[in-house]
Amino acid sequence: MSRRTLLRSGVGVAGAAALITTRSTASASSAMFRHGVASGDPLPDAVILWTRVSPSPEAAPGSGLGSDTRVRWELAHDASFGTIFASGEVTASAASDHTVKFDATGLTPATEYHYRFVVGDVVSPTGRTRTAPAPGAPTDHLRFGVVSCSNWEGGYFGAYRHLAARDDLVGILHLGDYLYEYAAGTFPVSGTAPGPMRRHTRS
Ligand SMILES: [Fe+2]
Repeated sequence: MSRRTLLRSGVGVAGAAALITTRSTASASSAMFRHGVASGDPLPDAVILWTRVSPSPEAAPGSGLGSDTRVRWELAHDASFGTIFASGEVTASAASDHTVKFDATGLTPATEYHYRFVVGDVVSPTGRTRTAPAPGAPTDHLRFGVVSCSNWEGGYFGAYRHLAARDDLVGILHLGDYLYEYAAGTFPVSGTAPGPMRRHTRS
């Protein structure tokens, strides 16, 4: 397993602030980008960006259905994207389950970037990411957030919101589960809990 493969499975970089531009409505954005955005695996000059698009109702996760979709990605130093630092286009297709995952390269070490995706005039939530320090660069400390097992069906997980709001973290390590392998609604919650508060479905 390469270093990048290893890190890809366990490292996410600071959080997802919900910033929707005036180019699209929040409802259009949440329908197209219903699975959010993510970044991780930082190198001094690169970071992986990820999203999944839902171009039509049948393009549900794992369905193998839905048309090819052109997805534009944008990186900027500022959250308002006044100046686009880098951008490009990729195609999301049913063959990749309409996920987009690629290395944004040519970046500056130890630098924060904002990123987002665009399909037509529909804009995703904005994510915030950060490149790793340059090799050998003096670094007196690095502060990470750490989260572990979370049963998505059985909690509100406000800790994620608090982590995303912090500016002093260079990354977040996720060490546990988010969805379990049990059938929907069957994971055992605590003895006094009323049961699942939301259901995980394939759509
Ligand atoms: Fe777990």
